[in-house]
Amino acid sequence: MIESDRDKAALNPALLPKGKLPQLVRGMKDILPQDAPFWDRVRSVVAAEAGAARYEPIETPILEETPLFTRSIGRETDVVEKEMYSFTDEGEENLTLRPEGTAGVVRAYVEHGMVNLPQPVRLWYWGPFFRRDRPQAGRFRQFHQFGLEVIGDGHPVIDSQLIQLGYRIFQELGLPVSLQVNSLGDSLCRPAYEKLLQEYYRKRRNNLCEDCKRRLAKSPLRLLDCKVPDCQTLAVDAPQFVDHLDEACRQHFVQVLEQLDELEIPYTLNPKVVRGLDYYTRTTFEFWIDEADGKPLELGGGGRYDGLIERFSGRQTPAAGFACGVERIVLKLKELNLVKVEVRAPDVFLAQLGDAPRKKALKLFGTLREAGFTVVEAFSKNSVKAQMEIANRLAAKFTLIVGQKEIMDGTILLRDMENGIQEVVEFGNVVPELKKRLLKNGGGKGSEPARQPSP
Ligand code: HAM
Repeated sequence: MIESDRDKAALNPALLPKGKLPQLVRGMKDILPQDAPFWDRVRSVVAAEAGAARYEPIETPILEETPLFTRSIGRETDVVEKEMYSFTDEGEENLTLRPEGTAGVVRAYVEHGMVNLPQPVRLWYWGPFFRRDRPQAGRFRQFHQFGLEVIGDGHPVIDSQLIQLGYRIFQELGLPVSLQVNSLGDSLCRPAYEKLLQEYYRKRRNNLCEDCKRRLAKSPLRLLDCKVPDCQTLAVDAPQFVDHLDEACRQHFVQVLEQLDELEIPYTLNPKVVRGLDYYTRTTFEFWIDEADGKPLELGGGGRYDGLIERFSGRQTPAAGFACGVERIVLKLKELNLVKVEVRAPDVFLAQLGDAPRKKALKLFGTLREAGFTVVEAFSKNSVKAQMEIANRLAAKFTLIVGQKEIMDGTILLRDMENGIQEVVEFGNVVPELKKRLLKNGGGKGSEPARQPSP
């Protein structure tokens, strides 16, 4: 067979074009096998909590039409202005790698007529998101979020329940978060408050950073959470929205706070929780955790977005939700040593001596797996010594050895790795014999924590 140039290059890397080796894209992160226990832990807590509260899983595509995000997140936001990965594909469609999850979920709710289901519809999701932000500790260009959305109910108890659920997830993970809450009013009372803010800041315009000067006309709320020190100083005395809510929004917020009191969830009223996305109305909240330098790291945030669905469906549909950053949570779980990484000892190591035994062992591997045992092997190795070393390193509880003699006799050698005792058992009896011994050793199949494997 004639090999193509590509085949030759694949077999011999020296033939690949010279130059820089492909590297991880800036701001992206590999999730390596040693990270898996931390990711599994977060996912299993979220899935259990969301499932128990009757949230249903939803997965929306990573790629969506660009206007979905510009119209929901808002053109004046950092995310839309400078952080979206957008492109025109060959079919001239404007597409964007999703920077957040709410917009896609709302699109799916409208598109699949979920308005006809009993309301509210409770959904949860988990997946990768993309923002071309400046990478730094805890901030990536591809990151993962889990999120929960409750669509079709405007009652304040929905807000408190969402906060309760988020708080519970963090408690379950052992992360000491602080809850920050605020209200951003609604389209009826926000214009008057924004005018007040603009008046306050215009008088102090010279002390504002360039970004804030630009934002003052169109998104004055964002000035409150600017990180530039001079702007932060100005924000201290700025008028606060909670003092300027209209009666309906004030009542809504008071009820949320009363419910949080009832739930004994401590919170801080924080006028700076204005969120970076434009769709919020009324309650907003964030979960913060302290960094070593005392600065807070935002692990999650969300709030009510009563006007968003109407923009897509024309039908007034209140909703609320929140999302959390998984990388940040994993970072903290590692830092605080909150996940016990337990290595499970395999039940069996399957050793073989030669070609015919290898075939026999290969088949037996399937039989043992079917019977529910955890099985490891090193079928490509020939030497018994090498195989036994691996069995020891993996801390297997038993080793089964298939050799020529055993094939002829219809038997197999069973070695207890704890005490080194070796017995001959009938090949056909290997499953019950193993079961008997594993039960006697006090564990079920694959259920016993490992003796610490040697490195
Ligand atoms: P968000 O505050 O933009 O809200 O993102 C939620 C969380 O995702 C943040 O609190 C943070 O932990 C994490 N996060 C955001 N950007 C990055 C990044 N570049 N690198 C690592 N982690 C990041 C939303 O996305 C809303 N959709 C939340 C929501 C749901 N509101 C209502 N429903």
